[in-house]
Amino acid sequence: MTKHTSNLKAEKIVGGVHASPRHDSAHKHVTGTAVYIDDIVEPFGTLHAGLGLANVAHGTIRSMDLSAVRAAPGVVDVLTASDIPGVNEISPSGMNDDPVLADGKVEFHGQPIFCVIAETREQARRAARLAKIEYEELPAVIDIWDVDVETHRQVTTPLTLKRGDAAAALASAPRRVKGRMRLGGQDHFYLEGQVSLAIPGEDEDVLVYCSTQGPSETQHMVAHALGVPSHSVAIEVRRMGGGFGGKETQANQCAALAAIAAKKLKRAVKLRLDRDEDMLATGKRHDFAIDYDVGFDEEGRILGVDYTFALRAGFSADLSGPVGDRALFHCDNAYFFPHVHAKSAPLYTNTVSNTAFRGFGGPQGMVGAERVIDEVAFAVGKDPLEIRKLNFYDAMGVDGERNITPYHQKVEDCIIQRIVAELEESADYAGRRKAIAEFNAGSPVVKRGLALTPVKFGISFTKTESNQAGALVHVYTDGSVHMNHGGTEMGQGLHLKVAQVVAEEFQIDLDRVKITATTTAKVPNTSPTAASSGADLNGMAAQDAARQIKDRLIDFAAETHQIPRDQVVFLPNRVRVGNEEIAFNELVRQAYMNRIQLSAAGFYKTPKIHWDRAKGRGHAFYYYAYGAACSEVSVDTLTGEYVVERTDILHDTGRSLNRAIDIGQVEGGFIQGMGWLTTEELWWDDKGRLRTHAPSTYKIPLASDRPKIFNVALTNWSEAYEPTIHRSKAVGEPPLPLGLAVLHALSDAVASVADHRICPRLDAPATPERVLMAVERLKAQVAK
Ligand code: MTE
Ligand code: HPA
Repeated sequence: MTKHTSNLKAEKIVGGVHASPRHDSAHKHVTGTAVYIDDIVEPFGTLHAGLGLANVAHGTIRSMDLSAVRAAPGVVDVLTASDIPGVNEISPSGMNDDPVLADGKVEFHGQPIFCVIAETREQARRAARLAKIEYEELPAVIDIWDVDVETHRQVTTPLTLKRGDAAAALASAPRRVKGRMRLGGQDHFYLEGQVSLAIPGEDEDVLVYCSTQGPSETQHMVAHALGVPSHSVAIEVRRMGGGFGGKETQANQCAALAAIAAKKLKRAVKLRLDRDEDMLATGKRHDFAIDYDVGFDEEGRILGVDYTFALRAGFSADLSGPVGDRALFHCDNAYFFPHVHAKSAPLYTNTVSNTAFRGFGGPQGMVGAERVIDEVAFAVGKDPLEIRKLNFYDAMGVDGERNITPYHQKVEDCIIQRIVAELEESADYAGRRKAIAEFNAGSPVVKRGLALTPVKFGISFTKTESNQAGALVHVYTDGSVHMNHGGTEMGQGLHLKVAQVVAEEFQIDLDRVKITATTTAKVPNTSPTAASSGADLNGMAAQDAARQIKDRLIDFAAETHQIPRDQVVFLPNRVRVGNEEIAFNELVRQAYMNRIQLSAAGFYKTPKIHWDRAKGRGHAFYYYAYGAACSEVSVDTLTGEYVVERTDILHDTGRSLNRAIDIGQVEGGFIQGMGWLTTEELWWDDKGRLRTHAPSTYKIPLASDRPKIFNVALTNWSEAYEPTIHRSKAVGEPPLPLGLAVLHALSDAVASVADHRICPRLDAPATPERVLMAVERLKAQVAK
């Protein structure tokens, strides 16, 4: 028996579910010992790649002279579209509109046209600038604000949701407001940019270390571009330095180029984008133009809504179809619309193809919902929070009629009332509302604002087949466990949570479970780690694998001791077998000696969900995650500058697998949402050049921008309505739209200059300039 007695008496294992062990890599993140792709020891003779980017927004390539590039110091080769051995295509949408390298035509400024391979990265990047390319320029559409949504080209089929008769409800409503809102996009600004290291193997084989959220899709795309079967390509990722949706599809291009070069040159090739290139050449969160028309009664109860969500898709479909869909799925946020008509319009533009970003259109939909709430509140002269509460879906357990979404799913688990009530109380909303009114009355320049906004976020991929996961668990003869699953780690603590699940299943301390890199060679056909589903899906798959092994161990012990199965009980780090207790390790050793299989592949698919896009109906989400945030800001009305004075958050993660990790996710999500809606501004000039492509011009929140007082709590009474993994709830994306509280607090502060009589219609991002313009606009309206 191996020595493992220290915990024999402990009643609980160390690091099981609902405990809060720290992130497994926390110490490595802060000491610089966590291995990212660029830290992997390079094989001897590794070459480095650099991209040649288009410098027109739309045009055909008339001529391309790459002789100076080829002659530059250190250059080994230059790849163009004609060097792609398979198909020049990495479209995740299946629309065949995403080339690896532009071939003959260019559709956005910054589009990769060629790839230089050199001895060093610096040489490759310098050489790339020596290309002489002549274009026949074509008219370019950069922005969507002024295009005709009805006639403009769309990159994919739009979606319409409807329930009831919105037109009739609007026509007969006592009150009605129409408006339009501009909502900006967002760069992912992961700390580790896009990077791939490809190592050629024998025959057609290639191994690509890639910073990707979707190893299986990267594998398929690389295979497609190489013209080889998927079995020849292995993708591996231990961790990403952030993904945030930006590596769901956008990692594929670097992976394909590195792999093509590696196979052609028979040397390892690394492609790591520079920050500016990364911002220019890879997709971002979609910006939207939101048209709304809302009918309501004198109380502020919404009767009917009509929405058009136009989104800047960029030059190709990528994920714009499903992003637009998710915006519509969240245009209700937490509110019941008796009659609704909503449509998306994924519009073609000559800009980089926009992509997944934490929330995936959901936050944009909620912005539309909250704008409508504000309009109604100002129209009837009530506090927006009152209007919010008046329009919530029926609470869980209430057998009412106000519980059907625009996509005809019944909301069964609504706990927003309780969350908002508790937050209102703990944040002293009413007291501070009064104090702020008094403060503003005596402060002519600095105005304070307050807002409390809810979040209801649907959990599941709407693409049904994506809601599946696999895992592979090995128990070695010393009782240590090797855990692998299809999810990827991007800092969110997924591997830790899944390891906790496995530790819990075997009742062994967490340090007995080894977290290993995600690889397509171990678990195949996985979904990207996205839609917040990482722990829900992979936790279940790993639990399934662990249970299979555990079942075999139980059978074995019951048989050898001639006792019923229920007398074999897994206790912390030991197993009770009848009247005896033996260490887990010892049972494993004995099982091995008796030729019991100690390895298993697990699988999970989410039950219940279905979605018929053509009909706009279904049970699109397995369940909903809820939360609310209350923010207070102060605004200098002479400059538009502002400070977030305080934020209180109450968020629901069910029976959290790891509260410490979840609190981190909520804090990070809120700050990222706040950045999106306040200071992060993407700005393209009329030639289609992104002018905000570095931290010097693109302002993400700094540590000093966080709320001065920041109280973040998780509900301690909630559990998932459905049997999710240990009744926990997904946490990755839902906290991001909590940042809406800051936008609405800013709007509230602005509104105070007109005595709260005019809806400020503050667009996002609400940069100081936009805040100042809104203040000036309101002052001018009051003066009239
Ligand atoms: N947290 C960190 N630290 N880094 C990230 O890149 N991505 C977010 C979120 N939290 C991200 C993050 C996104 S976009 C998603 S979909 C979820 O994590 C994915 O993780 P999960 O499904 O395992 O929670
Ligand atoms: N978030 C939400 N839904 C999704 C995503 C995502 O990142 N990817 C595909 N569907």
